[in-house]
Amino acid sequence: MTERYDSTAARHYAAFRPPLHRLILERVIRPHESFRVGLDVGCGTGYSAVALTKYCDRVFELDPNRSMLDVAQGHPKITYLQGSGEALGQLPVQVFDVVTFAGSLFYAKTDRLRRELVRACPPAGSIVAYDFEVLLNEVMAELGADCPADASNYDYRANISDWDEFGVDTIGTERLRLEVTKRQMAHLLLSDSNRYDALVRHFPNGDPFESLVGCLEDSRGQLHLDADIYFTRYRVLGR
Ligand SMILES: C[S@@+](CC[C@H](N)C(=O)[O-])C[C@H]1O[C@@H](n2cnc3c(N)ncnc32)[C@H](O)[C@@H]1O
Repeated sequence: MTERYDSTAARHYAAFRPPLHRLILERVIRPHESFRVGLDVGCGTGYSAVALTKYCDRVFELDPNRSMLDVAQGHPKITYLQGSGEALGQLPVQVFDVVTFAGSLFYAKTDRLRRELVRACPPAGSIVAYDFEVLLNEVMAELGADCPADASNYDYRANISDWDEFGVDTIGTERLRLEVTKRQMAHLLLSDSNRYDALVRHFPNGDPFESLVGCLEDSRGQLHLDADIYFTRYRVLGR
């Protein structure tokens, strides 16, 4: 997830996310496994947090970006906190039985986070780093609305395998294919500011959302979405 966000993109981002968080967590957490307290670092609009609630009595969510938190969906099990991963230092010791990073570890990984994670999780606690890349270039090309390639050095496989306080339990990558509606595809295409800008140029008259839905209607039958997923689960070995 390398999307550039602003408030318009965040609105489309919040309107539809493919259920990839759930599908990935099902690959790293056993069906009847449960945790008392979970933490989702870099929760964004909360999709990764909501996916984690299935396995936890209570979930804390942390994100430094106020505009993401402002559109985050409420949930009775979730408490939202504003701050970076390093803000873990202000939270109680050994409180989180599971910590997830969904598309956020690349941004959050620092030496200080390493110390704070050891402090905030009990021995044998779980850390899950996961990410996905939704493959939309082909759809953009079919629409004739190419946008500049991502020039960042973003790493979907960001992990903490080089931190010896944590041992690898599960690791994997897969390509998934999901069915989506035209409106879902339009929200997804507009959820990143780079694609949004390209689509505004392509559909210059008014809000590009309905134009896009109409265009997808004309050009494509059953829509599918391909995504590459990346996941690693670690056990806290201790200091
Ligand atoms: C690609 S989004 C992922 C959002 C959410 N986890 C999801 O799966 O939908 C990356 C998130 O990481 C957050 N982020 C950026 N720097 C961070 C840091 N140092 N610590 C924690 N989160 C950070 C951003 O604000 C953004 O919400």
